[in-house]
Amino acid sequence: MAETIPDLRGIPKARAYTELEGHCATILDGIRDEISGMATIASLVHNAFGYLWTGFYRVVEPGALLRVGPYQGSLGCLEIAFGRGVCGTAAAERRTVIVPDVEEFPGHIACDARARSEIVVPVTDARGDLIAVLDVDSDRLNSFDREDQRGLERLVSWFAAARQ
Ligand code: SME
Repeated sequence: MAETIPDLRGIPKARAYTELEGHCATILDGIRDEISGMATIASLVHNAFGYLWTGFYRVVEPGALLRVGPYQGSLGCLEIAFGRGVCGTAAAERRTVIVPDVEEFPGHIACDARARSEIVVPVTDARGDLIAVLDVDSDRLNSFDREDQRGLERLVSWFAAARQ
């Protein structure tokens, strides 16, 4: 496979995500395995934008517990309870959470002291069940906005399409 990951910093986000979606579709063509999907999407997003940490926490006890899945970056904490931190909040409330400044988010879990802002997106399968959350951490304040939300939500819609 000759795919390389483009550096998408500095181009408009909407275009960057459209390009990433194209890469994702090409690389994962014919693949239905969700761990392979998580590893591929984590690597694409992480390297295209140069983030601090990009990866998935999987639902291992529905409504109760997340456990780390494929990721890129420094060591992530292994387990997060629903309702705890940004990831647990996104999982419990099944909504994307954007945190412009992690120090302003009560209960933020600091896996890496360099983290300054964060976005967490719920991942659902074809039945609409929550299977994971995608967590992206930046070492800069205010890195994520509605454009990132739209782009990342579109990327993780692969899981609903792939696992029918
Ligand atoms: N900051 C996250 C924890 C996961 S790590 O940052 C990799 C949170 O508050 O849920």
